[in-house]
This record gives sequence, C-alpha cells and structure tokens, in this order.
Amino acid sequence: MMNISVDKNRLQKEIDELALISEAGPPVVTRVLFSEADLRGREFVKALCRDAGLVLRADAVGNIFARWNGVDDTLPAIATGSHIDAIPNAGKFDGVAGVLGAIEAIRALKKSGYRPHRSIELIIFTAEEPTRFGLGCLGSRLLSGVLGPEKAATALDREGKTLDEWRHSAGCTGSLQSVRLPKGCYPTFVELHIEQGPVLEQENTAIGIVEKIAAPSTLRMQLTGVGGHAGAVLMPERHDAGLAAAEIALAVERAVLGTGSPDTVGTTGVFRIEPGAVNSVPFRALLEIDVRDTQEATRNSALAEIEAKAAEICQRRGVALQTERVNVDPPAVCDPSLVKKVADVCSQLGVSYKKMISRAYHDTLFMAQICPSTMIFIPCRGGVSHRPDEYSSPEQIETGVRILAQTLAESAAG
Ligand code: GLV
Ligand code: MN
Ligand code: MN
Repeated sequence: MMNISVDKNRLQKEIDELALISEAGPPVVTRVLFSEADLRGREFVKALCRDAGLVLRADAVGNIFARWNGVDDTLPAIATGSHIDAIPNAGKFDGVAGVLGAIEAIRALKKSGYRPHRSIELIIFTAEEPTRFGLGCLGSRLLSGVLGPEKAATALDREGKTLDEWRHSAGCTGSLQSVRLPKGCYPTFVELHIEQGPVLEQENTAIGIVEKIAAPSTLRMQLTGVGGHAGAVLMPERHDAGLAAAEIALAVERAVLGTGSPDTVGTTGVFRIEPGAVNSVPFRALLEIDVRDTQEATRNSALAEIEAKAAEICQRRGVALQTERVNVDPPAVCDPSLVKKVADVCSQLGVSYKKMISRAYHDTLFMAQICPSTMIFIPCRGGVSHRPDEYSSPEQIETGVRILAQTLAESAAG
C-alpha cells in the first residue's frame, strides 16, 4: 500500500467554489447543459486539471478528457470520471464529488511519488443530467455508441434549438460521429459518486461498491385538447388536456405500484400545461415520465401499462396523444473482477464496504457497455440527493477518494 494523503480541506474548498457557479443562488446548484454556468463550471474544472499537470482535450459533444500520461503511453489508459452538470434545484455533490475527487486522487498519487505505467484519464461527461434535451447521459451514450450521432442530431430543447446549435455555440467542434469510442478502449473505468440513497448511512458503512445499475426509462407525452374560456365552455363540452395529464400522472403511480416489484418507481417530473392562464382551459399538456426498476421485465410491464392507460384516458376525454419513448435502457452489470479489486483495496485499507445496486443512473451505465466498469459510492446524509441540502462530509469524501486513488494506482500499474 502506498502512503496516499488526500487533502480533504482543499477538496471541500473546491467543491464549495464550484457550487457558487450556478444559475441560482446558494444553497441551490443549477447547471443546465451548455448554460453560462455549465460553461464556467467546465472552465473551473479545466483550470484545476491544468494545475494538476493533466493534458486536456475535448470531443465534439464536449466530453472533456484530462490525461496523466503514464510511463508507457502506448498502452490503453485506465479511466475515471463523472459529471458537473446539475438539474434545477440540485446540491453540490452529485457528480462533482467524482470529478473533483478524481483530481484530488491524482494529486495525492503524484504527491506520494507514484508514477502510473499506463496513463490515467479523467472524463468529465457532457450532460449526465437530462436537463436541456430531456435525455440523461448524453455524452456517455454517444461515447458508448448506444446513441447514434444521427439520432442525437435530432434532439431539440424546449425552444426548438438543436444539439448542433448548442454545442457549436459552446465551442465544441468536429462531427458527432467522431465521439464514439471502440469497445475495450479502457481496460478499467471507475466512477466515484455519492450514494444518493440511505443504505450506507443506515448501515454505518464507509463505501459502496456497485455491482448493478437499475434500468431507467423516460416517456415524453404531448397531449392536445381544446382550449377555451374558463367561464364560457361548459363542462360536458370540454377536452381539457390538463385533466387528461393529471389522470395519466395518477395512472403512472398505479402502474408502478402494481408490478409486484418493490423496486419499480415512477415519477412524472415534468408537467406543463398551456396556455397556463387561470381563466383558460388548458389546450396542451407536456409530460415527462421517469420509470425505473432493478429488473427490466417489471420496468417494461409498467411502461406498457402506462402507455395503454394514457391512450384510454385521452380517448375518453377526446384529447390527442403523442408518446415518445425517449430512452428505454437495460440495467448495467459491473465487472466482477473490478468489483473484487475495489473490495480488496477497502479491506487492505481497513475501510468497511458493501456491494450494492445503484438505483440512480450514472455515466457508468453506458461505460459498462464498452469497458469493465464499477462505481465507488460515498454515504450521503439521509440519502438525500437532487436537493440543495444534499450532503456528504469531507471525511466521507476523503475515504472515497483514497479508495479511488488506490484502485487507479493498482489498475494503472501494469
Ligand atoms: C441521475 O441523475 C438519475 O436521475 O439517476
Ligand atoms: Mn443526478
Ligand atoms: Mn450523478
């Protein structure tokens, strides 16, 4: 074992500084893809990478690669990484702990005198969060080839602006075709992340090692009814898109509760009605529905049930329905020998650990399709995430960074 000393105070200071680069004031963190805050956040992280002596490049969708060149730079590099974009009303640790934590892990390894045989690459993924285009893991989907460049090019945001328009204005050059990486490009990928669940804290365990990531999916529904004057249109004459949407949101809850699996979860997280005036019958509704499960079969049965119920509700109410399956992803299975390697590192360092499932998705969901992958989880207070009061202590993060550093060192040694 090497003598790796992590500077937890410096890391916490950097986490706090990055949190101030936000579209909303503290304690809220919001960094929507390619917003001014996202771009400034990227510059902040790139400066830290440069200071740490890493060589920077970026691909056509804005995934950033920061490389510590190894003794034999002709060998495939090992990789770590996460994201710094943040949903509206987020906290400061989701994704950030894995990016800034990886920079600190590299600095700690350098300080210890360690020199990697293989290069070590830190990837800061573009748009892990489904903010601007409603699709999560945009960068890692393209990297892994799960999302094709032609499909990605059709993505539109709420204002009808394309991915190409956004990425070009953010300074990303090259074709989306060039983003894909070959299978086996990295012999190892390890992502450090906060747990975003209560298990580690409840069980008083320092580290989670991810064996599987639950299967996510997203439906987008556009409902078109008939608008009109709230006073003049009598109830039997109405085709209210908002009421049809409300019924669908309740049908989502019923469908996920009815699969027989306690792991099926469904959330209607986007619910917008137009024109949004108190004295006007909603003529349009837009829903985005997130459905997940550790098992693909029960997730799929919930999806089918939601689609069938939505069609029935809209037919009954005389509302037109357009449904798009934005993403329907399989679960990811992590690499057993890499899971064992992280477990061995924990044992050697005397750190308690638990092998577990991730209910949240991560860029690892897609990296696992092209290279042996796992994740290192850090406990977070009350399991809270996607909220401004998300919290992991500097000591909890320090432990995660130490385990990451040692895992990277061993993986890059030969
Ligand atoms: C990632 O942020 C997720 O929604 O699981
Ligand atoms: Mn998140
Ligand atoms: Mn995340």
